[in-house]
Amino acid sequence: MSILMQVLRDSLKRAPKEALSPARASNPLIQYLEMHPDGRAVDRWHHYFDIYHRHFARFRGTQFTMIEIGIFNGGSLPMWREYFGSKATIVGVDVNAECVKFAEPGIEIMIGDQADRVFLASISDRYKDIAIVLDDGGHRMHQQIATFEELYPHLRPGGGVYLCEDTHTSYMPVFGGGYGNANTFIETSKSLIDKIHAFHSLDTSVLAPDDFTRSTDSLHFYDSVLVIEKRERTPPHRVSYGKEAEFTYVAPSLSGRRQD
Ligand SMILES: C[S@@+](CC[C@H](N)C(=O)[O-])C[C@H]1O[C@@H](n2cnc3c(N)ncnc32)[C@H](O)[C@@H]1O
Repeated sequence: MSILMQVLRDSLKRAPKEALSPARASNPLIQYLEMHPDGRAVDRWHHYFDIYHRHFARFRGTQFTMIEIGIFNGGSLPMWREYFGSKATIVGVDVNAECVKFAEPGIEIMIGDQADRVFLASISDRYKDIAIVLDDGGHRMHQQIATFEELYPHLRPGGGVYLCEDTHTSYMPVFGGGYGNANTFIETSKSLIDKIHAFHSLDTSVLAPDDFTRSTDSLHFYDSVLVIEKRERTPPHRVSYGKEAEFTYVAPSLSGRRQD
């Protein structure tokens, strides 16, 4: 290729970067993808990249393991590799044995079915410092639920992130979903809202704090994405600052018990 063609090609390559909107330019994941137009395909709803960056940025440059369920073309694996840096171990999981070809230094591949709880246990047996799980696998209800139930407990206790994407399939019968159907991933995750409040339960026979309550900081519901931030928790306690008001505050106490 003549030097001229090379220069032209290079200048053309830079064009996408210059076309980046400020918001997009600040997202290193989108920058990476726009700078690798010839890379292996990655297909996502556009708003996912800001969600990733919001919840994953703190892990960049650190040592940890990321599990991505669902490899397909393997396009996202080098993106995560570049984004997190060489200290991270990126593990791609897929039921399609062909995906073994995407293994490379820093990127490991496990082949198996995300609905198979024995296989899921083999993932947490092999990787002892999982800080991020991203489920972009088959998107069927039983697959998403099994993967969450088996891998969430093995996420780094002091600060891991569980992200399930394409949760809109909970509204689609072809994936086993359907609005209001109790067996969907979304209906299952709605019960997690109760669990995160269980320290305040007045009737532990119906709602009691459990391991999820004691290990979860927050739930973030986005369009088609659920992010769960893991962090060890103890029952909340109230703190007061400043002087008491001169008048009494007539309302049920926030303990929920009769007016103390
Ligand atoms: C949406 S694609 C993954 C896209 C990939 N994360 C990317 O960024 O390009 C879904 C993948 O999940 C895999 N898959 C489907 N059902 C699965 C299962 N039960 N267990 C594991 N992987 C599964 C499919 O083989 C397919 O490669």
